Amino acid sequence: MSLDNKIVLVTGGASGIGRATVNRMAKDGAHVVVADRQVELSHEVVTEVKQAGGSAEVCELDVAQEGAAAVAIKAIVSKHGRLDCAFNNAGITGAMVELLDIDPKDWARVLSVNLTGVFSCIQAEIAQMVGQESGGSIVNTASICGLVALPYATAYNAAKHGVIGLTKSAAVEYGPQNIRVNAVCPGFIDTPMLAGAAGADQEVLDGIISQLPIRRVAGPGEVADVVAWLLSDQASYVTGVAMPIDGGWTAQ
Ligand SMILES: NC(=O)c1ccc[n+]([C@@H]2O[C@H](COP(=O)([O-])OP(=O)(O)OC[C@H]3O[C@@H](n4cnc5c(N)ncnc54)[C@H](O)[C@@H]3O)[C@@H](O)[C@H]2O)c1
Repeated sequence: MSLDNKIVLVTGGASGIGRATVNRMAKDGAHVVVADRQVELSHEVVTEVKQAGGSAEVCELDVAQEGAAAVAIKAIVSKHGRLDCAFNNAGITGAMVELLDIDPKDWARVLSVNLTGVFSCIQAEIAQMVGQESGGSIVNTASICGLVALPYATAYNAAKHGVIGLTKSAAVEYGPQNIRVNAVCPGFIDTPMLAGAAGADQEVLDGIISQLPIRRVAGPGEVADVVAWLLSDQASYVTGVAMPIDGGWTAQ
């Protein structure tokens, strides 16, 4: 699969799924902009890419900061002349508590990163892509929590359901301008986020694994492969989908 010479933005590119996707797409020939609020870790990823013979750069970005995504995307376009693809992936879990115990500040924080953050990125990305003859391709990271609800994750569930609605809306409105917009819905992926939630407790993790049709969690590279395909021209007729990458969990 070729992403040769594509200019690609990856938010949350410093860790986990984002990091694996940066490496995968750079291997496929893209120039990848690693956008994350963790600057040091982002530089590590860029070094990793360059050592493997790829091309990447760091962009410090907090997607929850109003106006920041637009500024970042303007800078990318003034340097590279265009933005071909974007993976809006930055996300946080928030506190795992019952609905009645949710602190409104935590609710607002989860929504501001996981939903409004994706909105701010997609708005700035599409504003650029509509002016490009080649259009563009966007993938947003939702979750199985965008398709069903996991307990003690109300804000996260609500944000990820919102990401799927946002994805479909953008796909429907901008298909005529040759802009494809899709979402991925990862299940249980071995990243620092999972380690911070269920993975820290082996008993909880074993319980999850026993309920997965494919009896294991996934590596982040298994999500990266799907994202790279969705962003590439090989998925040229795929838009508006929310694709589970969950080992069959939501098929049950
Ligand atoms: N790991 C899983 O099991 C799983 C499952 C479903 C969905 N997801 C989703 O996948 C995405 C990536 O998660 P991950 O598992 O790789 O986690 P991770 O914690 O390893 O990576 C998340 C990255 O997002 C960055 N980030 C967080 N807030 C940000 C902000 N405001 N601005 C910019 N960057 C920010 C972090 O610095 C980090 O580099 C998230 O959207 C998450 O909700 C993960």
